[in-house]
Amino acid sequence: MKTGIITGTGKGIGLSTLKLLLKNKYKIISITKTKTKEVDRLFKDKNFIKNIYHPLGDNLLEDKKLVHEIYKKHKIDFMVCNAGVRHRDSIQKMNLEKRSYTLNVNFHSNVVIIEEFLKYFKKKKTSTSIVCISSIVGNLGFKDLSSYASSKMALEGFLKSVAVEYARKNVRINLIAPGFIKSSYYNNFIKKQKNLNKWIIGRTPMGRWGKPDEVSNVIEFLISEKSSYITGSTIYVDGGWNVS
Ligand SMILES: NC(=O)c1ccc[n+]([C@@H]2O[C@H](COP(=O)([O-])OP(=O)(O)OC[C@H]3O[C@@H](n4cnc5c(N)ncnc54)[C@H](OP(=O)(O)O)[C@@H]3O)[C@@H](O)[C@H]2O)c1
Repeated sequence: MKTGIITGTGKGIGLSTLKLLLKNKYKIISITKTKTKEVDRLFKDKNFIKNIYHPLGDNLLEDKKLVHEIYKKHKIDFMVCNAGVRHRDSIQKMNLEKRSYTLNVNFHSNVVIIEEFLKYFKKKKTSTSIVCISSIVGNLGFKDLSSYASSKMALEGFLKSVAVEYARKNVRINLIAPGFIKSSYYNNFIKKQKNLNKWIIGRTPMGRWGKPDEVSNVIEFLISEKSSYITGSTIYVDGGWNVS
């Protein structure tokens, strides 16, 4: 069975993916920021190989050392780069420090993880799959989300180029761009942003938010051989947002 890394597994899409892949007997190494009872409980599963609590993007050299140790010891077949931070601020309130943090977590830490992996990579018969989580934000403009949008578009640009470089080495690299998904921010959001929520539901052709497992199912498809001819793509999981 395939072995892989998932980042940002404490809540939301990452937690849902961790549960799905463990249920389907994938072997997992997880990296996430905060200790949670749920991840500790899942760690009892014999396929959950390693569980690391580490804040990606705070110190890129530490991130590099961390993944270097993982790649030395484990043969990695897939990677799900999911950890990300949302930063909502108008351009007037934005500053270099806030923007750099968002870019470090959402872009630079993923670059470090992937670059370090590719140094260890040896071509295999079955494909190696890297899946990163982008967003509908970035490709489309959204008010107060400029740093988040920049980080996701930088990630897309980087990955599409690497996908072309590694296509003949049987490494497939794809992105998922979710729309509005009921992850950890959902309950607070619908209480505090009632008007914005009405707009989101009205603006989404399917007329509802997505569920984390609707993203995790696509992640599983992309790491499996069922998607063996897909690389360099962004798959929208957004209830039709990007086409309307
Ligand atoms: N939900 C959506 O509507 C939506 C839409 C488009 C794209 N996305 C993208 O999907 C991904 C997952 O989002 P989500 O909504 O599931 O988020 P979430 O509910 O906030 O969960 C994110 C998980 O990642 C962890 N994490 C955050 N920063 C980290 C870091 N620096 N190092 C390691 N772990 C970190 C968090 O840990 P803590 O709990 O300790 O912070 C948490 O466990 C993100 O990349 C996000 O940008 C989400």
